[in-house]
Amino acid sequence: MSRVARAVAHPNIALAKYWGKDSDERRMPAVPSLSVTLEGMQTTTEVTFDEALEGDILILNGESKLGRPAIRVSALLDRVRARASISSRAHVTTTNDFPTAAGLASSASAFAALSVAASDAAGLPVDLDELSDLARQSSVSAARSLHGGFVELPLGGAVDRLIATQVAPADHIALAVLVLVTHEGEKPISSTEAMRITRETSPYYEAWVRTAPDLFERIRMAVLEGDFPGLGRATEQSALRMHAVALASSSGLLYWNPATVAAIEAVRKLRSEGLNAYFTIDAGPHVKVLVPTSEVDSARSELEKVPGVIRTITTTPGGAARLIDLRRDGA
Ligand code: DP6
Repeated sequence: MSRVARAVAHPNIALAKYWGKDSDERRMPAVPSLSVTLEGMQTTTEVTFDEALEGDILILNGESKLGRPAIRVSALLDRVRARASISSRAHVTTTNDFPTAAGLASSASAFAALSVAASDAAGLPVDLDELSDLARQSSVSAARSLHGGFVELPLGGAVDRLIATQVAPADHIALAVLVLVTHEGEKPISSTEAMRITRETSPYYEAWVRTAPDLFERIRMAVLEGDFPGLGRATEQSALRMHAVALASSSGLLYWNPATVAAIEAVRKLRSEGLNAYFTIDAGPHVKVLVPTSEVDSARSELEKVPGVIRTITTTPGGAARLIDLRRDGA
């Protein structure tokens, strides 16, 4: 007997960044974070539990994967199997329509889609709160991709459970996020490892953890009030502080390339000319630019000229992770 389910999820971009966890085992974030889920980039994942299989199989973007990606997928499947009291191994096929492991939050959409598809295939209810905690144990930012729109994840407490919740729906602020792709390869160091190095060696880590909640609160209020310039300013600060604390670690974690810096300068120049553009940067060299939807075309035509920007992806706030009806789609 086999059971199959397919799900889609979108990456999210943190406006208030999560960087650091209390321990790698518990995967509880040391700071609260707030993100926007992005329509325009998508992970699709199909899970089949099959009693005939001897081990889990992972096919990522058409290639069979072993090692760390496969281990992380099996760890999530183990938690689902334990909840559903089943022992069957699973066949997992997953595809991203955007670069994988390149600082574009592919792990967030990957573990969000996997949580939904694996739970449904195992006969468990698809409860987004429960699934955000399940996904969080694989990758903290994935907890936020279960929901659409603007989503917050509090900092972790003593209890081993943490749930992401929606702060405002996708259409609450008419904004677009322009992704400026500045490199096509995979990133050299995982976020988990980079955060561990930051926690253990950055002299600024304590200051980052202490000040992040205030910035988070400013970002949360700006979202609720629809204050785009306030949101943009605080978003830039959160990203710059995150990169500063990582840069001050013993490994000098520097995610930027020359095009990243050129894009930051271009965004600041656009702003001085009256355009409402603000940048943020994750654990990779790409720059994401927040801009009101009414100004997206003018911003894009300027920013795609920045030296080193390979291409741009235009995204808007998007929906929650969800199951795809396999019967209706004839699969
Ligand atoms: C820079 O969630 O990928 O994107 O929890 O170790 O899997 P792990 O890390 P991950 O880190 C994301 C970091 C970030 C900021 C953010 O999304 O909040």
